[in-house]
Amino acid sequence: MKDSFGRTIDYLRVSVTDRCNFRCIYCMPEEGYPVSPKDELLTFEEMARLIHIAADLGIAKVRLTGGEPLLRRDLPQLIQQIARHPNITDISCTTNGFLLKSKAQELKDAGLHRVNVSLDTLEPERFQRIARRGALQQVLDGIDAALEAGLQPVKINCVLMKGVNEDEAVAFARLTLDRPLNVRFIELMPIRWNLDETEPMDPIAPLRGNRDLFRLRIAQDDGMLSDLQMRKMVVSCDTAREAIEKELGSLTPAAIPTNGPARNSRVKGAVGTIGFISQISNDLCDRCNRLRLTADGQLRPCLMADGEVDLRTPIRTGASDEELRDLFLQVVAAKPERHYLAEGQKVVGRGMSQLGG
Ligand code: 5AD
Ligand code: SF4
Repeated sequence: MKDSFGRTIDYLRVSVTDRCNFRCIYCMPEEGYPVSPKDELLTFEEMARLIHIAADLGIAKVRLTGGEPLLRRDLPQLIQQIARHPNITDISCTTNGFLLKSKAQELKDAGLHRVNVSLDTLEPERFQRIARRGALQQVLDGIDAALEAGLQPVKINCVLMKGVNEDEAVAFARLTLDRPLNVRFIELMPIRWNLDETEPMDPIAPLRGNRDLFRLRIAQDDGMLSDLQMRKMVVSCDTAREAIEKELGSLTPAAIPTNGPARNSRVKGAVGTIGFISQISNDLCDRCNRLRLTADGQLRPCLMADGEVDLRTPIRTGASDEELRDLFLQVVAAKPERHYLAEGQKVVGRGMSQLGG
């Protein structure tokens, strides 16, 4: 499938649940937020059907995300069903790692190829401040279990934040020295599920047509970072790279087999690699190859654009495969060229745990 800007769309991210057992400060309020009622979530049969239709159209790579995907007990069955489609060459999963230790082998046996583990700090107390649930050691054990089960390459997603964990770039880079890990630094994105107080409109926002989009809003104090805080706390990939190079010597470009948006490098002599995902300082939209299916059955062409198409209603009211295929094609055709965060675009309405990262 090609979109209207000539990009090949061959990657589908599927959020299998909007629930999570962590409460990361950039993702959720302290107490979490209302999750979808069960009957609004797709069943695994529905997900599998939609994924097979996407694969018929050229989707070759599927990532299972959340919320926390390992909270869905029948995840292995879904993986088995996805793996049956001959066009699917890569099935991966993004997890916070908390349940990985007990599930890595079972997932591998079901047909999962690899995992990305989200981990923002290597210090136990900081872990409590950032994720607010779970425990660092359990996540580290989960990473070991994934490596042992052969879910490789294991990628670590690390979001650096000013005033929180910005001093840990080097410690994360060191993880790659003797283990086959791909540590990726992801710039913090200002995505919130709700917004309230308003600040004056940004006078230089170029897209003045939609006034509401450009009202800078500060969220209530619900224990989640506000849009404004997130914008101020971004640690750019260049900053992370400089810190690493100062300590561990210059990085050399490295190729890794899975083609995500990261630019990859390696510390001299290291077994693993380091990736930089700089969607804030240097947008990566021209290489975007993905669609997203939310846990409640909405197909989105872009993480940062509000548009989505409902697949749940049609699938529950007897739509044919043909009709569902057409809806996929409509969404591909509607894929925007890029995000407009630098111009002041707001991403609201759904949180990251509802969007499938
Ligand atoms: N900005 C950047 N990354 C985020 N993630 C979740 N919320 C944000 C955000 N606002 C990351 C998680 C996880 C991945 C799915 O996305 O840490 O690794
Ligand atoms: Fe859960 Fe991931 Fe959100 Fe953290 S970032 S609360 S692990 S969904």
